[in-house]
Amino acid sequence: MLSGKIIGTGSYLPDFVMKNSDFEKLVETNDEWIVTRTGISERHISTGMENWEMGLNAAQNALEKAGVKAEAIDFIIGVTVTPDYFYPTLSNIVEAKLGATNASCFDVAAGCTGFVVGMDIAWQYLRSGKAKKVLVVSSESMTKTLDFTDRSSCVLFGDGAGAMLFDSTESGGIINTYTMCEPDPEGLLACRALKPNNPFIKERATIFNDLSDTHLRMGGRDTYKFAVRVLPKAITKVLEGTGVTLDEVKYIIPHQANLRIIDHVTEYLGIAHDKMYVNIDKYANTSSATVPIALDEMVGKGLLTPHDKIIFAGFGAGLTYGAALVEW
Ligand code: ACO
Repeated sequence: MLSGKIIGTGSYLPDFVMKNSDFEKLVETNDEWIVTRTGISERHISTGMENWEMGLNAAQNALEKAGVKAEAIDFIIGVTVTPDYFYPTLSNIVEAKLGATNASCFDVAAGCTGFVVGMDIAWQYLRSGKAKKVLVVSSESMTKTLDFTDRSSCVLFGDGAGAMLFDSTESGGIINTYTMCEPDPEGLLACRALKPNNPFIKERATIFNDLSDTHLRMGGRDTYKFAVRVLPKAITKVLEGTGVTLDEVKYIIPHQANLRIIDHVTEYLGIAHDKMYVNIDKYANTSSATVPIALDEMVGKGLLTPHDKIIFAGFGAGLTYGAALVEW
């Protein structure tokens, strides 16, 4: 059975570190509130670097570690909800800058679940034999969507990028994926794009009437409830029919949105806290990039050994959620 094995990981975080205390000058908040309610202490934010450039750095990092030349890549799957352009896409720009001249490219937008969805799609190409090397690269400039006067959301996010390079394999690699989407008719997690502006508009059909600007809008408490409900489901579903038990999984790499969400899910599943990889304290929520950034950090720390079973799990706007089970 063909599958896809992760042969390279990469990440990029902008140099500028914004601490919780820096928000005290912008909104009525403090370090203690942010740490106890979210687990976040600081986040990296872009002070000018474009989204594609962070993604390119993460992709180059992954290729270098794998010792693979850009020309060998068959597909580049860009993952972002904060692109620089509607087109060309993140993947198009990364392809051009890498010189990945033999790659087909497209982007995936699935909120913070985007990387898991990207892995799911990569798996389809790899298991069918259509591709041998697939690069999945996420880059998110979340801070460009933030309203820095809204204390309930602006403290939660950061910028960053991560990448994984997959190679075709006949043993190990991706074992299973599970993705799902629950309708979000009220726009619990939403960010407006361009508005219609042709000269003939009479009436506009709007879905979220109250969403007038292009800032992120989030119902925090309902998002929290959604997350603690669907994360355990995604983790359970991805194991179904694989013969792999939760006990056999060495690490779960959850989307990093709030430490309390992760702790809640850890307790619900009855697993040890050190089975859940957590780095939200340093980077906050970088949307779809949290998962590959975390994996690259784990690789850097030497936490993984061949044949370890790991689960990536995400949730986010859409309302999307999902998981990927991988043999390292
Ligand atoms: N500093 C100080 N006080 C604050 C802040 C802040 N930064 N933010 C909110 N508060 C206040 C509120 O105004 C409220 O005050 P009030 O009681 O006087 O009205 C109080 O703190 C409690 O607010 P809650 O919203 O109940 O706080 P909660 O404990 O739920 O934490 C949070 C809020 C952190 C947003 C939490 O609900 C959460 O993490 N939700 C999930 C967020 C998430 O997962 N987002 C993922 C987005 S994924 C994507 O796709 C974009």
